[in-house]
Amino acid sequence: MILVTGATGAVGNHVVAQLVEAGAKVRALTRSPGKARFDPQVDVAIADVDKPETLPPALEGVERVFMLAPSHHAPAHDANIVKAAQAAGVRHLVKISGLGTIDDAPDAITRWHLEGERAVKESGIAWTILQPGEFMSNTFYWTYGIKGEGVVREPHGDTRQALVDPRDIGSVAAVVLTTEGHEGKSYPLTGPEALTPKERVAKISAALGRPIEFAQLTPQQARDNWVMLGAPEELIDAVQSVLADDSGRWARVYPTVEQLTGRPARSFDQWLADHLEAFR
Ligand SMILES: NC(=O)c1ccc[n+]([C@@H]2O[C@H](COP(=O)([O-])OP(=O)(O)OC[C@H]3O[C@@H](n4cnc5c(N)ncnc54)[C@H](OP(=O)(O)O)[C@@H]3O)[C@@H](O)[C@H]2O)c1
Repeated sequence: MILVTGATGAVGNHVVAQLVEAGAKVRALTRSPGKARFDPQVDVAIADVDKPETLPPALEGVERVFMLAPSHHAPAHDANIVKAAQAAGVRHLVKISGLGTIDDAPDAITRWHLEGERAVKESGIAWTILQPGEFMSNTFYWTYGIKGEGVVREPHGDTRQALVDPRDIGSVAAVVLTTEGHEGKSYPLTGPEALTPKERVAKISAALGRPIEFAQLTPQQARDNWVMLGAPEELIDAVQSVLADDSGRWARVYPTVEQLTGRPARSFDQWLADHLEAFR
């Protein structure tokens, strides 16, 4: 049995689907029974990673765990899952981390994930770390501005990110969780190219066949917007620092998706074509 945490989220739902397709026995963890819309074969565990006493039933009979925590909860969530996994006799942990952990990027998200990685690596359980770049699905944050006024308001319009399609992260996770030979390895995951926000906006504009303006915000304006949307302050600072990092580390493209899945990583154009309706 494979337990998937973060199963209702942007990446976890693809992990669950790909594991089912691979014929694995899957249990999906969520705090909310109402959010559990999975294939009928999927076992659902209702638990809260912040409440360790709820975890033992979720881990009963589990051999491998896919670990995904909201960035700023990674240290606490990873520690709680590791303890519960040790007690349950789990034999493989696969943690979603971030691309910044490859070379100790100076942002807080990387620090949180490095702390989580440490807990996993020191657990005594076999481990694999997945280090994705920015998710293509973050582009959904722009739907409101694009549909409403035809404008995307963002800071740092010229910084390149090697975006990755969450479906490819799901495919890689399914390979790592159902085949041998991935223990003790860290896999950076990106798509085939690095794009700036301005280039993504131009692609959306061309695909929709109407002009979309990119309006560059100052970091303070972006911060005020995110506060208004209710994002936690510590997360805003951390994301700001990733977006402002033009060292080039976030723009490196890696061949890992194709090496592990046997097919090329999806491009942003493919992601957009498959999700264009959301922007109309
Ligand atoms: N977005 C990016 O560009 C990017 C890039 C690289 C790495 N990452 C990493 O990817 C992760 C975020 O992935 P995502 O976007 O798929 O997440 P997401 O869509 O925001 O979903 C978060 C998931 O966490 C679960 N969760 C939250 N608190 C929980 C708790 N106390 N107990 C149990 N489950 C809890 C939620 O489940 P329920 O609500 O159903 O309980 C939900 O399934 C972060 O670690 C981030 O650093 C993100």
